[in-house]
Parts: sequence; C-alpha cells; structure tokens
Amino acid sequence: MSESPLPIVRTVADLRARVAGWRAAGERVALVPTMGALHEGHLSLVRLAGRQADRTVASIFVNPTQFGPSEDFDAYPRGEARDAALLADAGCDLLFAPTVAEMYPAGFATKVSVTGVSEPLDGAARPGHFDGVATVVTKLLLQCAPDVAVFGEKDYQQLQVIRRLARDLDIPVEIVGGATARAEDGLALSSRNAYLSPEERVIAGRLNGVLRESVNRLKAGEAVAGVEADALAALAAAGFQTVDYVEVRDAEDLARLGPGPALGPARILAAARIGRTRLIDNMAV
Ligand code: PAF
Repeated sequence: MSESPLPIVRTVADLRARVAGWRAAGERVALVPTMGALHEGHLSLVRLAGRQADRTVASIFVNPTQFGPSEDFDAYPRGEARDAALLADAGCDLLFAPTVAEMYPAGFATKVSVTGVSEPLDGAARPGHFDGVATVVTKLLLQCAPDVAVFGEKDYQQLQVIRRLARDLDIPVEIVGGATARAEDGLALSSRNAYLSPEERVIAGRLNGVLRESVNRLKAGEAVAGVEADALAALAAAGFQTVDYVEVRDAEDLARLGPGPALGPARILAAARIGRTRLIDNMAV
C-alpha cells in the first residue's frame, strides 16, 4: 500500500499530541471540519485556513448523529486516500480521521442543542440534524482546540449555529465563514451533487439563478412575501420536485422577515429536492 501524502491521526490523544507540539513552537492552528468526499469548496476552506494560521488540521468524519433515519448516511460518498491527497495539495498539515467508536464511545450520553437559530429551515426539515452537528462540532473544537475554525457559507444555517454555540459555551476559537464555491452555471459545489443524473444536474443549476433574481428584487426594495412566493413558483417550474423552503431571514439569527421590504442584513436560503438529491443554497441580500 502506498504511503499517505499527509500524516493521519485517528485518536483524540494523537491529535492533541500533534497540536501540542505546534503550540509549543508558538504556532497558530486552524481546523477545517469536513465529512470527506472533498471538492473545490472544501479545498478553498483549507486554503483560507492556511492564510489564517501556521498549521491546518482537516477532519474527516461522516457523523452518524446528524443524519436522519431515512437519510443518506450509508450512501454518503467516502474515499479517504483521494481526500488525503487533495488535502496535502491544498496545504493541509494533518488529517484527523477518527472512527465512530472514538467519537462516540460506549455510554456516550451528551447532546449539544442550540435553540433559536437551529430551529427553522433545515432544523424543521431535518429533525435532530443540528443537534448532531452541534454535538460533533463542539467535540472537534474541544479535541483540537484550534485558534480558528473554518466552515463553508454554503451551509449558512450550520455556520450560524456553530457561531452561536462557540459564543454560548465560551469556546476560545474564532469561527470563520468561507465563500461558497460554485460551478460555472452557479451551482453550489456539494458532495451530494454526485447523486445528480445529467438531466437533474441541469435543473440543479437553476437554484442559484432563482436566488440571485430574488436578491436583486429585494435590493430594489420589493416586499419579502412576494419575492418568496415567486421564487417558490420559479423553482417548481424549473423542475424541482419539492421545495422544503425558500425564505428571506435575518442574516444573524435567521428570524423571519417580511412581509414588507427586507431592512437590515438579510439572507435568502433555499432547500429543494430533485430525485433523491436534496440541494441547499443561500445568498446575502
Ligand atoms: O458541513 C459538514 O461537512 C458537517 O456538517 C460538519 C461541520 C463537518 C460536522 O459534521
């Protein structure tokens, strides 16, 4: 078997030992948590982390607690050797790839649950999802104790949930959001895009266009309620089978806005399904 292009640790003890060595040398450490199946979006986060710190750790852990019983945990794409090579190329220094038993040993009984910001949108569509995310991210932040942790803006609600938990639990880490990487037609890069058939991929490309048109109308002062209703109709007309939500929300706490014009920082967020693929996207207003 060929050697991995970057060091891999699988236990919290080994992770802490590596990070302690860097800290002893006065180095600043960044963490980029992922579930693997890496694409340019993840790699842009690794490069962003590299500009914020002397050392970058990436984690790959397909976290079972954030998947619902009918979701794609078993089918979720996995390929550690390919991911490790991509991470090494992007300047990552260490891969933390724990087992489920390392992260959730027998008797594990603690849950981190963020109220408010985690409740609407994906929180409503995917019950328990954000508890799973909040719990595993809290663990990763405590295990690695990075100075900075980088998450993609593509999962905007997740980013806001993580910002909230880091503040609320006094975890001494700076949470940084990285811009969404997009394909040429604007489709947000996602590991789940691999599930799309060629026909579905064409439909998927319309999601960001609908959001972009909505943002332009909101910026021109149009009422939230009308823009949301038109976006919903446009997604259905484009061929999305179900739209879980397309909503304009407060950019910070994701509270409901409208029905009038969006005043102050806002974000439009959408989740829609084609075939077996659920896509999410969002944009600043
Ligand atoms: O965004 C993801 O890939 C995951 O939700 C995360 C943050 C790595 C937690 O499992």
